[in-house]
Amino acid sequence: MTQAGQTPLPLVVLISGSGSNLQAIIDACASGQVNAEIKAVISNKGDAFGLKRAQRSNIPTHVLDHRLFGNRQSFDRALQKLIDGYQPQLVVLAGFMRILTEEFVNHYLGRMLNIHPSLLPNFQGLNTHQRACESDVKEHGVSVHFVTPELDGGPVVNRATIEVGSSDTPESLGKRVLEEEHRIYPEAIGWFADARLQLNGNQAMLDGTPVPQLEKSVHET
Ligand code: GRF
Repeated sequence: MTQAGQTPLPLVVLISGSGSNLQAIIDACASGQVNAEIKAVISNKGDAFGLKRAQRSNIPTHVLDHRLFGNRQSFDRALQKLIDGYQPQLVVLAGFMRILTEEFVNHYLGRMLNIHPSLLPNFQGLNTHQRACESDVKEHGVSVHFVTPELDGGPVVNRATIEVGSSDTPESLGKRVLEEEHRIYPEAIGWFADARLQLNGNQAMLDGTPVPQLEKSVHET
């Protein structure tokens, strides 16, 4: 639960698609599970369903179409300006399908989280459920991590593991992983809002203790 009497942590959430994680965060803020307030939702895609979810909850929305910018840096600078207008204390990437410049990432270092549908450091990048099936792993899952300049490489702050059975498909894994996403992302944001979670150098600290990191166990050919 939230710490009584504390001001809700201002968040900005970035999306590109369905926004089911966004919805889980909206719900967790509304129920008081997470002591935070979403000040704005920004999408790089005008047709992202998550924009409707935000509007339904009276959260300001913006579309910043990356195709209207000449290069990655000019898009990221415009995005940064838009975000900073809301003075968030945490930026939440929730299915935001853009590679970010180092300049942008460093500006939000220690105050930007991402969710990635694998047990990092395994399966960085795209098509994680497909690759998990092809790699014959017994366990798969999802990780919330601080964003650092290395793509999907920042320290993990929260994770959930699911068992992989021989009949699993990318779709069945994706469905079970998504359920876990909706649980562990609000939980991690709640820790940050309650000042229990920090980035210290390259370590994620929860309640003053480093969050254990996994070793890479899958070496794809
Ligand atoms: C999730 O699988 C998340 O892990 C990945 O993108 C997907 C976003 O889904 N980064 P949604 O838009 O939150 O429904």
